Amino acid sequence: MARIVISGTGVFTPPFSISNEELVHSFNTFVRNFNREHQDEIAAGTCQALAESSAEFIEKASGIKSRFVLDREGVLDPAIMCPRLPFRSVEERSIQCEISVAAAREAMERAGKNPEDLDAVIVSCSNTERPYPAIAVEVQDALGISGFAFDMNIACSSATFGIQTAVDSIFRGNARAILMVNPEICSGHLNFRDRDSHFIFGDVCTAVIVEREDYCRKKDVFEIIGTKLATKYSTNIYNRLGFLERTRPGQTSEKEKLFVQEGRKVFKEVVPLATEIIRNHLAEHDIAPSDLKRVWLHQANLNMNQLMCKKLLGVEITDGVTPTILDTYANTASAGSIICFHKNHEDLKEHDLGVICSFGAGYSVGNIIVRRIHLDT
Ligand code: COA
Repeated sequence: MARIVISGTGVFTPPFSISNEELVHSFNTFVRNFNREHQDEIAAGTCQALAESSAEFIEKASGIKSRFVLDREGVLDPAIMCPRLPFRSVEERSIQCEISVAAAREAMERAGKNPEDLDAVIVSCSNTERPYPAIAVEVQDALGISGFAFDMNIACSSATFGIQTAVDSIFRGNARAILMVNPEICSGHLNFRDRDSHFIFGDVCTAVIVEREDYCRKKDVFEIIGTKLATKYSTNIYNRLGFLERTRPGQTSEKEKLFVQEGRKVFKEVVPLATEIIRNHLAEHDIAPSDLKRVWLHQANLNMNQLMCKKLLGVEITDGVTPTILDTYANTASAGSIICFHKNHEDLKEHDLGVICSFGAGYSVGNIIVRRIHLDT
């Protein structure tokens, strides 16, 4: 059986960025307005005053300094605090299709692939803007790819699960080359009025070409030498917006239709879970953590990654081994480790080993072991 490789990646970065200071200014204006409007209830003890946010806290607690978004105005307007993404008719391409195509074109160019060379499209992300037809089928149509396409979702691990799904399809002979895309519009599910989490997410789209070695045109690629996925049910991160909403009007709170998390619990429970899975996966392949030249970690929280680095690698987080993009992109759900990979792999030499990993809602953990190889194409 031919080896299976990653031959190209692409990233679409939205044109707008919001700094912590700008986000906090908007949040604190909302808080002051709320407290003023409810001063009588607050004084009577029937309503709780809201607390202000702080840019210093955000950077210290998460490592995030700014985030890219598809719309700045709506997010920063204290009366709206939500991206405003205009309605599109069915004749127009959806937003997720549009950003998927942008990221996909870069990945295809890097891999030297034309649409007719691809046999399938997987769109794998935390939220899709409609249940059907699948966004992946629209992307397939927009790019002129034949074969099959489908959407899948396992929240923050959507990209690593998407890579394993692509590998399995190729391994079974159902495709030779697959485009796997992660259009993460996280501002759409983020509660910008929630002090504990209003700073966490940003928007982006990443794309990965996974293909058979003997079908590949690029010389310097990454062989996928192993994939490991794991899930463990937890309600510490959830979003209860679903298609049955209209069957029980008014019963789901507006907050619960957005991202909700018990951040501390997530931190405590996910770090050991993900670390154990990565360690065991490496051991199955006789690889010591110290053999890794690069670890493209999930990008949710810098302190979390620091702890994982110490536990897993016995090293402090450094740009050399464990690059970080959290400062400028924030948490972009499943796309984070792919952005890291995209921006930090060119210097690796033949036979260098690395892992792309993810962890998040579900809980879900995904680990992909890769090796830099040179093909005689
Ligand atoms: N501004 C200022 N202070 C804030 C604040 C804000 N925006 N949000 C919380 N605080 C305060 C709290 O009130 C608390 O104060 P207290 O100790 O006086 O009560 C203090 O900061 C600590 O709050 P806590 O929620 O415990 O912060 P934390 O250090 O756990 O950091 C997260 C919060 C969310 C950044 C962190 O828990 C985390 O990253 N968890 C994992 C998240 C994750 O990976 N999720 C996956 C998503 S897919």
